This record gives sequence, structure tokens and C-alpha cells, in this order.
Amino acid sequence: MTNEFARHRRLRQSANMRALVRETVLSVNDFIYPLFVAEGESVRNEVSSMPGVFQLSIDNLKAEFDEIVNLGIKSVILFGLPIEKDDVGTGAYHNHGIVQQATRYIKEQYPDLLVIADTCLCEYTDHGHCGIVESGNVLNDPSLDLLVKTAVSQAEAGADIIAPSNMMDGFVTAIRQGLDAAGYAHIPIMSYAVKYSSAFYGPFREAADSTPQFGDRKTYQMDPANRREAMREAAADIEQGADFLIVKPALSYLDIIRDVRNEFDAPVVAYNVSGEYAMVKAAALNGWVDEKAIVLEKLTSMKRAGADLIMTYHAKDAARWLSEQ
Ligand code: PBG
Repeated sequence: MTNEFARHRRLRQSANMRALVRETVLSVNDFIYPLFVAEGESVRNEVSSMPGVFQLSIDNLKAEFDEIVNLGIKSVILFGLPIEKDDVGTGAYHNHGIVQQATRYIKEQYPDLLVIADTCLCEYTDHGHCGIVESGNVLNDPSLDLLVKTAVSQAEAGADIIAPSNMMDGFVTAIRQGLDAAGYAHIPIMSYAVKYSSAFYGPFREAADSTPQFGDRKTYQMDPANRREAMREAAADIEQGADFLIVKPALSYLDIIRDVRNEFDAPVVAYNVSGEYAMVKAAALNGWVDEKAIVLEKLTSMKRAGADLIMTYHAKDAARWLSEQ
């Protein structure tokens, strides 16, 4: 009788037994914490659709970064909020752009912390698109020049990793060549290789004030219905020299994370985006879900799907919870 079926429960009978056979383990080393840095002074605005996430000016970064470093978080990704925008996104590549200034400040104060710069134009253009616009079209090749300028200025300011999120074709090649020519051959590119045109970015666009003023991003970001196309995007970026591959969003795209992991050897990054954060936060604040349990389960699922790293607004909470376990 006892040999007629498998006894799976043998390995589940105690907390220590379960720990012994656990396949996926989260660590604070896995997390990249996204931050919104704002031009100006004394800015500390909570993003209404992202409770716990703030737009911060540089004079308010100290408390935030002391906390981040104390929690053991080792990398952050920066998004900028300029005071002025224009049609070519000058604030993205200006020497005194907000991300460049914040990067200099952070690297001075916390030299070991890895600063990842998001390389895109949408937070800096008055039309809110990720490239140059002409007659209602987002132009590919002319946008590349501005993205290269942005990446080089971010590296000059001290960014450790360049993370282009704009979804123009050829951006990895262009940025790689630009960085190399400027003396930054050692700076890795973390490419948003597989980035879907997703409603899950809604709260981010409030946080980063980057909603397109006309149309949408469907001519450059991917169709959520497509799986094979993700392989073509990722393969192209690897060929062009990407050092990391980002899949974004994460939760509704775990199949894509697994496909990318199976096909490529580069580190895979899951971007647990703003809408995914907002849904959990809203439910937690209503007392409908157990926030800690649900966040750790969801982050574990991203690693189990194949992600090596996770960009997540939950990073500080998750780091705290992991240290308490
Ligand atoms: C900029 C960018 C976006 C996000 C990261 N970089 C928004 C967009 O493409 O509209 C979204 C991040 C999030 O939702 O958390 N291109």
C-alpha cells in the first residue's frame, strides 16, 4: 500500500525541511530600486497611485539613500523629472540634467552603490514620446543620436550601467558605439530588450509625468499578444552588445521571462512595473490581501520564471522582510 503512490508530503513536514528543498530563494542582491528624482528644491511628493513612492529633489535624497544602503540594496535606477520640457528632450542629455546631477550626488555620497540610468526621452519631451516626433510620427534613426548623447552624458556623470528603455531599433548598437568612442567601453548596457506596450505603466506615467500627449507607444513598444517576437527583440539586442536583458512588465509576462532565460545566457532582469505595484498596494491598503506574503510570493515567482534580478518598487519593503526572516 505505502509504495503505491509518491509521498510528496515527506519533504513538506516542517519549516526546516521545506527550507532544505526550496528551489528559489530571494535575496536583497536581486533587487534594483527605481527612484524618481525631481528638479527643484524641497520636493517630496508621494505619487498618488503608488503609495510609498515619492518624487524627491536632490536635497531630499540623503534620508532615502541612507535607508536604501542600510537595507543592503546595492543598485538603483533613476528616472528624472525636469522642470522644463521641449520637443527634443534637452533635459535628458544636458550636463546639468536632473539625472546627471542626482548621479553625481549619489556617487559622491555612496560610491559603492550602483547607479543605473534609464536612457529615454519621454520624461523630457513636451509631447511625451520616447523619440523625435515629426508630423505625428516617432522617428527612429534621428532619435538614436539623442539617445547616444543621453547615455554618454549619464556615463560622464558617473552612472555605472546604462539602461535604454526607448524601444527605437538599433539603440544598443548606437549607444555601445557612442559609449566606446567616449571612453566608456567598460560601462555595461542593460537593455529593455523586451518591452511591451502595456497598461501596467499607467501609474509610472503619473510618477514620471511622461504620458504621451497624442497617440500611444504601440509603434515602438511590443504588442502584448506576441511571444515569438520577444525572441527576435532579445536576439537583436544580444547581437548588438547588450550585457543584460530586461523583460517588462513582469507579472503578466512570466512566460516571456522563461523563454528569454532558456534562450540566452545574459543576466535576465524582470521589471515589476508600476501598475503591478499599485494593484498590490491598493488591495493591501484595503486589508484585502496580506501585503508581505503577496509581495514575497510575486517576487519569488519572477525569479522562479527565470529572472536573475528584479526592478521593483517593493525593494525596500522586501529587503526589510527578508532581513527579518
Ligand atoms: C520610459 C519608461 C516607462 C517605464 C520605464 N521607463 C514608461 C513607458 O514606457 O511609458 C515604466 C515603468 C513602470 O511602469 O514602472 N520609457
